[in-house]
Amino acid sequence: MHHQKSVIGVGVRFKKLGPELGAERGPYTFETLGFPRGDRPYIIFNGIVSVDGVAQPTAGVDRLSSAADRMLLRRLRSQVDAVLVGGGTLRTDPICIRTAPELLSERGQQFQLPHPLGVGISYGGNVPDEHPFWQSPSPVLFLGPATPLARVAFWRSRVAVRQFDRIPEILHQLHREFAVQVVLSEGGPQLNRLLLAAGLGDELFLTIAPLISGEGGERGIIGGTGLLGRGLRLISVWREGEHLFLRYAIAAPGSGGEDT
Ligand SMILES: NC(=O)c1ccc[n+]([C@@H]2O[C@H](COP(=O)([O-])OP(=O)(O)OC[C@H]3O[C@@H](n4cnc5c(N)ncnc54)[C@H](OP(=O)(O)O)[C@@H]3O)[C@@H](O)[C@H]2O)c1
Repeated sequence: MHHQKSVIGVGVRFKKLGPELGAERGPYTFETLGFPRGDRPYIIFNGIVSVDGVAQPTAGVDRLSSAADRMLLRRLRSQVDAVLVGGGTLRTDPICIRTAPELLSERGQQFQLPHPLGVGISYGGNVPDEHPFWQSPSPVLFLGPATPLARVAFWRSRVAVRQFDRIPEILHQLHREFAVQVVLSEGGPQLNRLLLAAGLGDELFLTIAPLISGEGGERGIIGGTGLLGRGLRLISVWREGEHLFLRYAIAAPGSGGEDT
């Protein structure tokens, strides 16, 4: 009598992801993103990994990315007030935080400032003097307590500098001083870990690249080790070519979402 149920699995419903996703106007428009603006910064992460979870291939992240991935990242950047970039990423990747020209008018309908703040973070101040990041229209550099005074003075002569002891202070300061309400963390993995370990983080945009890298170990999208146990709820899945674009809501720490 229960034969059919036991074959399918009680309470298990599979859903094929298909053309019904086309019901949305397009991936990651202001309307579909709908980030809340409240009394604290709303924090989203974006990252890309190989199918076996490698976020830092020896050959560089370009090995994972695609035109669609870069397009969606440009869209995310255009829909936030600030973009966080860790020192390790600045030392590796030629990132510059500005709104892409084709998205300026769309952004202008929702944001006063044409470009998000580009927020560089370094605990010890050892980030490259020459880097495309400093050509971002609004760069701010947060320096941690391990930064030598001479290095603080050097950076103060070049860009807007703020200082922090612990990562959450950066978010508070961005909110208080720069009226930042939506923040995109582009990582890297160590910065992602620090934010999550502080109980922060509201959404994760994760691209799965069509590659078995084989370079596992300490190269995932979340650096370091130790239990985080943050549950996720799948919001949307897009596919372009062989890449998958996943959007998740991140459960608050201790919310019970850990077991989902
Ligand atoms: N696949 C992806 O989506 C993706 C995205 C971004 C980056 N990446 C890759 O990830 C790699 C870089 O990532 P990463 O994890 O090495 O570095 P990262 O996350 O970019 O930077 C780590 C940041 O944490 C700071 N920090 C270290 N200890 C701290 C502490 N106790 N308190 C507060 N801050 C502290 C560091 O300061 P210091 O400057 O003093 O070190 C640095 O600013 C590169 O290979 C890059 O290509 C991949």
